[in-house]
Amino acid sequence: MSHAEDHEGTRRDFLYYATAGAGAVATGAAVWPLVNQMNPSADVQALSSIRVDVSGVEVGTQLTVKWLGKPVFIRRRTEDEIAAGRAVQVSELIDGNAENKNKPGADASDENRTLDEAGEWLVMIGVCTHLGCVPIGNAAGDFGGWFCPCHGSHYDTAGRIRKGPAPRNLDVPVAAFEDETTIKLG
Ligand code: FES
Repeated sequence: MSHAEDHEGTRRDFLYYATAGAGAVATGAAVWPLVNQMNPSADVQALSSIRVDVSGVEVGTQLTVKWLGKPVFIRRRTEDEIAAGRAVQVSELIDGNAENKNKPGADASDENRTLDEAGEWLVMIGVCTHLGCVPIGNAAGDFGGWFCPCHGSHYDTAGRIRKGPAPRNLDVPVAAFEDETTIKLG
């Protein structure tokens, strides 16, 4: 698919290079170095969609980008993470709903939350559903996914709440692969 087909707003889109995010992955911190230099009060609010270059995201790492004022986690999961997520029955979950804007009404099975059929790519809004802190990633917490230290919420490898006060799974935004190495958010 060509970028030329994109609709209004395209010129305002920013491209986030995975290499910039990869440094943040190593430390486990959520860092979005580019947007902060770009007058976010005006521009970020105006963005309805952005494109993210994920060509540099290695298996087992994640990239965090800022979109519409919120961090978005883009994780390339390991085989173990995929297997762990797929081994869980929806009936075991605290929140069995998908909150997946790509698949409205679907349940929160691992398959329904990931971007690709192989389940390698998981894209989520990086905001804890308890009181809005940004969870720590990279196999954190008791379920090997994300952990929010604010009040102790544990999310699994598919970003589903498994323990702690958070009521809902991490939200899955509208996202799609535009080409092999580009994910479009929104
Ligand atoms: S904000 Fe995440 S556990 Fe309270």
